Amino acid sequence: MRVPLIAGNWKMYKTLAEAVAFARALKEAAAGFKGVEAAVCPPFAALAAVAGELKGSSVAVGAQDVFWEAEGAYTGEISPAMLVDAGCSYVIAGHSERRQYFQETDENVNRKVKAALLHGLVPIICVGELLQEREAGITEKVVQSQTGAALAGLKPEQVAGLVIAYEPVWAIGTGRTATEADAQQVIAFIRTLVRDSFGDVAAYGVRIQYGGSVKPENAAGLMSQPDIDGALVGGASLKVDSFAGIIKACG
Ligand code: PGA
Repeated sequence: MRVPLIAGNWKMYKTLAEAVAFARALKEAAAGFKGVEAAVCPPFAALAAVAGELKGSSVAVGAQDVFWEAEGAYTGEISPAMLVDAGCSYVIAGHSERRQYFQETDENVNRKVKAALLHGLVPIICVGELLQEREAGITEKVVQSQTGAALAGLKPEQVAGLVIAYEPVWAIGTGRTATEADAQQVIAFIRTLVRDSFGDVAAYGVRIQYGGSVKPENAAGLMSQPDIDGALVGGASLKVDSFAGIIKACG
């Protein structure tokens, strides 16, 4: 059975002191987490400190982005090996905010995914349609092309171990959640895409999260859907109570 993953994407929030205090409190709460995996994705500057605090707990650490080169003259960038060194086991690739504000392309997401896997990081690959794409009835087409591009060239056993986050862009930070049925439908579609290209083992193994205004109040309903394997949480992951509430609702 797939173990659901609840990952908190802190985006560009929290000082070092705030991040460490959060990690300390979450570590205590984590003793009560059952049947679910939890991870936090702090900004780069807080990764090592948060990983240090969470050492010995069941909560994993992820980064919000990565560059695909191993090292070199790439001012401002962070390599996969540096993330591993800082204590990360996950890395988000292709978040819609990276696509929207930082010219992230499908090709670059694919490079990042391959580089992450090469270094033993588990990528959390974000896909999802814009509001106008949903209204135009092309959600599946958009998600198909993003997923296909992100997974291009991977082996089935690599796909089986990774995480995909379906995040309709219109639901991110807006308080507007996809209905349980809509989220399940698109996520089941993504699993079918994986099955068609990589086979049953990959489709059975790959964890597909929902993301977009997930809160303690709507988490259990979303997670009760057969194909939804956790959540990528933004705003509600910034407070220990609400993040722990979501994790407990999913266990
Ligand atoms: P949200 O963000 O939970 O604040 O909608 C989700 C995300 O961006 O991953």
